[in-house]
Amino acid sequence: MSGDARPRTVLVLAAGEGKRMKSATPKVLHPLLGRTLLGHVLAAAQPLEAERTVVVVGRGAEQVTAHVSEVAPYADTVLQAEQRGTGHAVRVALAAYPELTGTLVVLNGDVPLLRPETLRELVHTHEATGSAATVLTAEVADPAGLGRIVRNEDGSFAAIVEHRDATDEQRAITEINAGIYAFDVTLLRDALEKLSTDNDQGEEYLTDVIALLRTDGHPVATHHAADATEALGCNDRAELARLRKLMQQRINTAWMRDGVTMEDPDSTWVDVTVTLARDVVLRPNTYLHGATRIGEGAQIGPEVTLIDTTVGEAATVVRAQCDGAEIGPECSVGPYAYLRPGAKLARKVKIGTYVEVKKADIGEGTKVPHLSYVGDATIGEYTNIGAATVFVNYDGVQKHHTVIGSHARTGADNMFVAPVTVGDGAYTAAGSVITQDVPPGAMGVARARQRNVEGWVLRRRPGTAAAEAAQRAQASTNTSANPDPGVADGEATSETGRKRGGDAG
Ligand code: UD1
Ligand code: MG
Repeated sequence: MSGDARPRTVLVLAAGEGKRMKSATPKVLHPLLGRTLLGHVLAAAQPLEAERTVVVVGRGAEQVTAHVSEVAPYADTVLQAEQRGTGHAVRVALAAYPELTGTLVVLNGDVPLLRPETLRELVHTHEATGSAATVLTAEVADPAGLGRIVRNEDGSFAAIVEHRDATDEQRAITEINAGIYAFDVTLLRDALEKLSTDNDQGEEYLTDVIALLRTDGHPVATHHAADATEALGCNDRAELARLRKLMQQRINTAWMRDGVTMEDPDSTWVDVTVTLARDVVLRPNTYLHGATRIGEGAQIGPEVTLIDTTVGEAATVVRAQCDGAEIGPECSVGPYAYLRPGAKLARKVKIGTYVEVKKADIGEGTKVPHLSYVGDATIGEYTNIGAATVFVNYDGVQKHHTVIGSHARTGADNMFVAPVTVGDGAYTAAGSVITQDVPPGAMGVARARQRNVEGWVLRRRPGTAAAEAAQRAQASTNTSANPDPGVADGEATSETGRKRGGDAG
């Protein structure tokens, strides 16, 4: 086809109200596995490499225009201020481009399952047959609401009749108009001038143009879509759900054929924009969104949502939510972890249970295993962060940074009050509130020393079960001949033990 010099223009109709969606969001901006409805249509048309792509906007014009400039900056928009039908939409667009010649590909903005190959074939049929118009048709089980393809006795194309204008006999036809066409621009322009609004909705129907061209003796062709789902439009939320399911099946089947294991494809939702390597395993209830990329042999799920997140080879992510995170090879994340934008894990990092990480570089082999918040931090290699640690990054006005070196061992229940630095190989004691730098190799202790008030319970809570238990324990200690002299010193457990005594920490 590249040898064909005929200029091509793509025109996407996206001005309609989408009444049946009952939404504050314009219909064509509803999302479907990684793109909006309109985004899918533009993506299907892009490989045609048309000289010009135009989107007709109307309902929610500002929003739709902003979206178009984001996802298809090469496209122009034309405003159809009043939505007077699909034919009117095309007429308004063509008025803005009086110089156009060649082939005009017209697409409804709400047919997200259309494939680029099908569109290419439609254009090829159109140009190879020298037709004035070529209509994409499909055979569907339930044609309710759609335009029917009415054929002459010899099978040639006669007209498109809208469902609401159709006779009972015509409604029995299951070949439908997909709302996707190729036209000769010059002939289309003339025919549009002759459109009437003599129909149930009082609108200018683009579909009537086809019959007009036919009546004037111009050749009209049809191209049949082998996969009828490509022609499905979206008019309400139930149809949107159905389209989403079909898109999910299409995406999942393609990935499984490409070497990805899905334990439960039905509960696995992968945006079209995601990339997966070989031998990735996706477990049930996994949602992969946006620019997410998963490396070879990584295991994701169950119950994981990844948004714009990269996962390295052979990593595992279990019951987690990650947004804008980089997870290195062989990392282990979860269960119940939350990685936020800027969380960057090098190789073999462990982020365990009830751990939240934001804007933090975590070095190879480092572990944050339990109940912690790590925000605005740099942590070196092979460091262990004790359970229940909080990186205190926010003073109420500004965020501050914490640096922890390599091979450090921080105690349980620590607060790192940023800005603060803990050096390589340093330790911190359990229950410490670290507000000053800890030099390499030092032990940082920042907590009140424990004090035991002997006999307090017997004096202040006499007669309680606690007092009686204490009395029994004292009696047995007093009668014991040989008390163990080694147990009194608690120092050996101060970094990792969690002794809830008189500490304020
Ligand atoms: C249209 C076709 C129907 C076809 C069906 C396929 C007509 C008259 N009918 O019906 O034969 O089977 O699509 O899905 O064309 N739009 C505008 N401006 C307007 C009206 C609509 O830009 O004034 C846009 C809408 O945003 C939408 C597209 O055109 O993207 C189709 O409009 P819609 O109202 O969905 O048409 P259908 O009734 O579904
Ligand atoms: Mg429609």
